Amino acid sequence: MNILILGSGGREHALAWAVAQNPKCDRLIVAPGNAGMAEIAECASFDIEDGEAVVMFAEEEAIDFVIIGPEAPLAAGVADRLREAGVLCFGPSADAAKLEASKAFTKEICDAAGAPTAAYARFTELAPAQDYIRAQGAPIVVKADGLAAGKGVIVAMTEDEALAAVEDMLGGAFGAAGAEVVIEEFMEGEEASFFVLSDGKTALPIGTAQDHKRAFDGDTGPNTGGMGAYSPAPVLTDAIAQDALDRIIQPTIDEMARRGTPYEGVLYAGLMIQNGKARLVEYNVRFGDPECQVLMMRLGAQILDLLLACAEGRLAEAQVNWADDHAITVVMAAKGYPGAYEKGSEIRGLAGLASDSWNMVFHAGTKQVGGVTVATGGRVLNVTARGHALRTAHARAYDMASRIHWPDGFYRQDIGWRALEEGEAAQ
Ligand code: AMP
Ligand code: GLY
Repeated sequence: MNILILGSGGREHALAWAVAQNPKCDRLIVAPGNAGMAEIAECASFDIEDGEAVVMFAEEEAIDFVIIGPEAPLAAGVADRLREAGVLCFGPSADAAKLEASKAFTKEICDAAGAPTAAYARFTELAPAQDYIRAQGAPIVVKADGLAAGKGVIVAMTEDEALAAVEDMLGGAFGAAGAEVVIEEFMEGEEASFFVLSDGKTALPIGTAQDHKRAFDGDTGPNTGGMGAYSPAPVLTDAIAQDALDRIIQPTIDEMARRGTPYEGVLYAGLMIQNGKARLVEYNVRFGDPECQVLMMRLGAQILDLLLACAEGRLAEAQVNWADDHAITVVMAAKGYPGAYEKGSEIRGLAGLASDSWNMVFHAGTKQVGGVTVATGGRVLNVTARGHALRTAHARAYDMASRIHWPDGFYRQDIGWRALEEGEAAQ
């Protein structure tokens, strides 16, 4: 098959790496790709958020299957254009992608599906939103309805913080994304991510993970896109995962189908777990980044068969082959990230590292300039390892990271701390 993957991050490098190992993959093209992907695939350049441009490319290159990585092309309807043109593709329609693109819509679906989530109210006017915050008190969570590049959620520990957030959002700080706000109950507990493929009817779990959102050790510093992740997430036991599937995810898939907007793609549920029960924090309509890197490390080449079964509506007969293993990824970011950072610094030492089904450095923001790898983004490399125990994977990932010479980068030293501590406590 000729396969096209859209995106340029560590998530897409990990997808490309796993897909390329499947014998069904004859030719792999990524758009736009990065320096890491260029080693295993052809890179193409066109606007991946322009559905017509994607269809035209797919037709010219006789592409059999398109895998869409990021949320922006999904929200822009690229999957719809491809399906209309008869091109097989993995990723939800724009209507189904509203599960990520609109927090108010997700709440509406949870209500209709009876899925447990935080109590909430929606507002487009400032005064009633302020009254609601004063009546509920803090802590309380204020969310811009639309896509706000991960910055649209304020977990307010004081009433004043919540009042300032709502004034900012409804005052236009996030443009149209903040024209409506969702104000919701603060949920206590431990967060974990649950990844499920859906073909519109059947839900097939493909793994759990936890990421580390804060920039610095000890979960301090500003929020980021994610500084590291591991899979599985011990807090999401089989029993809690099954309960989340039965009470949250399958009812959501059924409700989307009932509305005539079936959900086809990967549904990434952010769950809050407390007292052995999960509640929904949010949905994303794509793989997590960097969670995808640890999932791909564990699933390997079979991911292509699973994504094809999903796109072709055959999930009821699909099966995931699990190994009893663990994977971890450590994000190397440019100094200054998630704030301002320099681009163009040199990274050395990558060529000497192992690169196999146990050890991989996925690239997120890199390019080759005259034979040298240089950083082009905030999150730049994902140093990833797999092991029979999390501790061995952890030791290997950090050993690899220590061999990479990049004075302008930094990484957290404590990725996986929670699972490692829980593992020790269990012994
Ligand atoms: P979201 O974009 O909705 O995932 O929100 C970003 C982060 O804010 C989540 O990963 C949680 O850590 C936190 N968060 C969101 N909603 C809540 C809530 N209702 N209670 C506690 N924390 C929340
Ligand atoms: N790592 C969080 C996300 O991909 O949304």
